Amino acid sequence: MMAALDTAVAVGVVGAGAMGGGIAQVAAAAGHPVVLFDAREGAAEQAVTKLRGVFATLAAKGRMSAEAAEAAGSRLSAAATLAALAPAGLVVEAVVEDLAVKQGLFRDLEALVADGAILATNTSSLSVTAIGAALARPGRLAGLHFFNPAPLMPLVEVVSGLGTDAAVAETLFDTAKAWGKTPVHAASTPGFIVNRVARPYYAEAIRLLEEGAADSATIDALFREAGGFRMGPFELMDMIGHDVNFAVTRSVWSAFFHDPRFTPSLTQQELVAAGFLGRKSGRGFYDYREGAARPAARTADGPAPARITLHGTCAMAASLAARLDAQGVAFARADADDGRVATVDGVAVFVTDGRTAAERAVALGTPAVAVVDTAFDPATAGRLAFATAHSCPAGGGEAVAGLLAAAGIAPTPVADSPGLVVMRTVAMLANEAADAVHRGVCAASSADTAMRLGTNYPRGPLAWADALGVATVAEVLGNLAAFYGEDRYRLSPFLRLRAITGRGCHD
Ligand SMILES: NC(=O)c1ccc[n+]([C@@H]2O[C@H](COP(=O)([O-])OP(=O)(O)OC[C@H]3O[C@@H](n4cnc5c(N)ncnc54)[C@H](O)[C@@H]3O)[C@@H](O)[C@H]2O)c1
Repeated sequence: MMAALDTAVAVGVVGAGAMGGGIAQVAAAAGHPVVLFDAREGAAEQAVTKLRGVFATLAAKGRMSAEAAEAAGSRLSAAATLAALAPAGLVVEAVVEDLAVKQGLFRDLEALVADGAILATNTSSLSVTAIGAALARPGRLAGLHFFNPAPLMPLVEVVSGLGTDAAVAETLFDTAKAWGKTPVHAASTPGFIVNRVARPYYAEAIRLLEEGAADSATIDALFREAGGFRMGPFELMDMIGHDVNFAVTRSVWSAFFHDPRFTPSLTQQELVAAGFLGRKSGRGFYDYREGAARPAARTADGPAPARITLHGTCAMAASLAARLDAQGVAFARADADDGRVATVDGVAVFVTDGRTAAERAVALGTPAVAVVDTAFDPATAGRLAFATAHSCPAGGGEAVAGLLAAAGIAPTPVADSPGLVVMRTVAMLANEAADAVHRGVCAASSADTAMRLGTNYPRGPLAWADALGVATVAEVLGNLAAFYGEDRYRLSPFLRLRAITGRGCHD
């Protein structure tokens, strides 16, 4: 049974900035009378005028009827004082990100609103438990975390603090759903789901750059064209702004008592120190100034290999076979007992298991070894990273490049890095999502939903781990941990258990 708030219930929104305005738009469009208040004089009126204009534009574009736009606009009003929010059955706060300010505001609100009214905070990084602790009745407060821009982003994290009543969280969940959003439940922990699980997307990319695995344009292209992500990590950080992105990373790291899994990067700190904040300042990882050239991704060249043999039945081998067939390139098939997917002009090609090509060459006692990355969909990937072992004879890299090119894939050479690019990052995203589930922050399905809808990932990290095989992901992480000797790569018990028992993340 739906327990969403009736649309007759008035919604108060405190803070008429980017988020408050968007939340007011969503609530008014859903049918609630909405009262906006902002401490800055005139800000609430301005927001109401702007939102009425937004509704009129939506009507002009045919996204809503003229009557609905008019009605939604007329449901909005600006309040001159906080006291005008007294009749609201739900008040959502989107003021400055400051614990003392939010606590003070909710204390004031608690004295104004009716006993049954729900109080919600849109905080991204503060503890919902700590905000609620300021109240005489902490049970009535929860997090209602929208993403920017709130009218367009479907995800809402409904965050329960230690004191939050379960019924309040349920009402907010159902109300967000009635507003056309996709809510997920989360416990009040640093970063909730999205801002926690997304950290490795940035951190591993910066690590790869710092280690000289490849340049930023090449790494971004790999995430887009092999990983299926809409934006690569460097272009995304440049868009978010390094000040904002670094502050979130720092805040999550501090809140986890400096857990090395979340250690911020010196490279990003330097960008912030330099004022290279990304697009908004004209420079970040890329140069956005007038006339600046955008660097191209590195793509290797290799002549068509003389001899290609494909081995095994994994997704990569099957896709290479289908793609070579489609291009009319001849190849042989043979069994191989060492797990390789291809042999090309004498070079053994493996899909990365988290070991470098060099490690694999030593383990096999064979110098001619190469590793290739994983892809979101090897059947359609436009690009793939590969590396050859230092022991690989001259021409080995060209042979692998020739194999990929023959299959219609842009061969992308990177330094011989453990787990290469996409596999390493996806394994770390899955590990973080797994750990959030293991620690009771959210359900596995919520972690995947949150990352698909909150960050536009092409697939939830846990569903991705299932597609790769949990045992494979666990092996990659184990090899990364062994290579670096860092706690950062430690395997989440959630994945370890599933790898041992052969279950998927969603079983
Ligand atoms: N911008 C984002 O991407 C984003 C996403 C999710 C959550 N959030 C969170 O939402 C909140 C608001 O962020 P924003 O980006 O909309 O900020 P913003 O600066 O655009 O707006 C904040 C508004 O709050 C007003 N304000 C400040 N203190 C006030 C008070 N005590 N009482 C009433 N009004 C007050 C300001 O005048 C301003 O208009 C923060 O907690 C932030 O962490 C932001």
